[in-house]
Amino acid sequence: MDTARTVVALRAKIRAWRAAGDKIAMVPTMGALHPGHLSLVEIGKRRAHRVVASIFVNPKQFGATEDLGRYPRQEARDAELLRGAGCDLLFLPPVEAVYPAGYATTVSVGGLDRPMEGASRPGHFDGVATVVTKLLLMAFPDVAIFGEKDWQQLAIIRRLAIDLNIPAEIVGAPILRESDGLAMSSRNAYLSPQQRAVAGALFHTLQAAASTISGGASVPDTLSAARAALESAGFRVDYLQLADEASLQPVSGPVAGARLFVAAKLGTTRLIDNLPVMPR
Ligand code: PAF
Repeated sequence: MDTARTVVALRAKIRAWRAAGDKIAMVPTMGALHPGHLSLVEIGKRRAHRVVASIFVNPKQFGATEDLGRYPRQEARDAELLRGAGCDLLFLPPVEAVYPAGYATTVSVGGLDRPMEGASRPGHFDGVATVVTKLLLMAFPDVAIFGEKDWQQLAIIRRLAIDLNIPAEIVGAPILRESDGLAMSSRNAYLSPQQRAVAGALFHTLQAAASTISGGASVPDTLSAARAALESAGFRVDYLQLADEASLQPVSGPVAGARLFVAAKLGTTRLIDNLPVMPR
């Protein structure tokens, strides 16, 4: 696996592959890799000849009170994992390569950035949309793969790729889960052993609520019972809502495209998850 730290080096490598007729997949990450990320590389390998992964802890997507400083950075370990997964090129730009002096442009995806994560994390999706647009324009991949755990992020990236005529196919990758159902996330490392022991309840409560709603029960009653169950397990629930998977607007029942979304904190660690709700 090669490493590129500049856009010039990244493009030189990709240009050579393209000249040989290769199709390119990109897996943007912020590092602190887990098997969920490696499954994105695996999907990339199935869809293209070459896989480029990027690791860039994007300062623009962290709020003033968020965890940019303590976000785990483990470059050597991540590089080994990517090499083992069959990644061809690791793009590791320093902050100045992404946001050079005088940088002034923000990509903002109106509407989709408002509900759920957007309501609790103002400016977060502008940071995500800006860096993902830049990464896609730096590498010009044929395919780019993002995890479905961050469903709202995926919806926003699909929208910006269409709106800005970015010719990459945006592919969502299924959520990988720990044995107790907890969705894999770099932030799970922040959980204390006690918090980790209860964290699986997030998925199980979501799953039970999704199946109750599919069975025709009242959505408000089901969601308030699920919220109460999570609070009594020690979570502070930020949102728990049924919404359309594309527009992210609330829906009132188990219609096609309905999805249940949750964000809840255990201590200071914010966990998110989502599940489809099958129509009756
Ligand atoms: O999901 C992530 O890891 C990040 O939000 C992304 C897409 C790499 C942009 O920084």
